Amino acid sequence: MSEYRTGQGWDVHRLAPHRPLILGGVTIPSEFGLEGHSDADILSHAITDAILGAAALGDIGMHFPDTDPQWKGANSLQFLEHALDLAKRAGFALVNVDSTVILERPKLKDYRNSIREKLADTLALPLDRISVKFKTAEKVGPVGEGKSAEAQAVVTLRRE
Ligand code: C5P
Ligand code: MG
Repeated sequence: MSEYRTGQGWDVHRLAPHRPLILGGVTIPSEFGLEGHSDADILSHAITDAILGAAALGDIGMHFPDTDPQWKGANSLQFLEHALDLAKRAGFALVNVDSTVILERPKLKDYRNSIREKLADTLALPLDRISVKFKTAEKVGPVGEGKSAEAQAVVTLRRE
């Protein structure tokens, strides 16, 4: 019988003016974006950590320290690709990804398919194995007050 592994990932970044809002590698039209050393793509960061977690390979900061100038402004899809490569080298294949972005505004649902397609390309996974969901925080707490955005992800790996 195949061995299956589950991994969980979470990320938060502050919202800031004059920054791009990039989710799953897709730039969303918005008057503000996410602060961070890299491109601050919380969704890619959460999925990266979920992949690393399922394979017990540490976390994103261990592989891509935010003190390293090499990663300043980095496209976070490369973190995802690298995490998947590490998991593959450890003998795992990615089965599916489920994720949630929690952001008060703008509305994201019109971008769901572009984000899923970008993630599917990056992870070499069929579209029907990639789920991206969106929630507001109902105006409560730092996310609800528009100070930050969060992303959560769960992935399944299968040992080949
Ligand atoms: O947070 P709430 O339950 O009110 O969200 C309702 C729906 O609005 C979500 O299921 C999602 O489809 C959409 N949504 C969105 N963009 C956001 C937050 C929610 O498209 N930033
Ligand atoms: Mg991050």
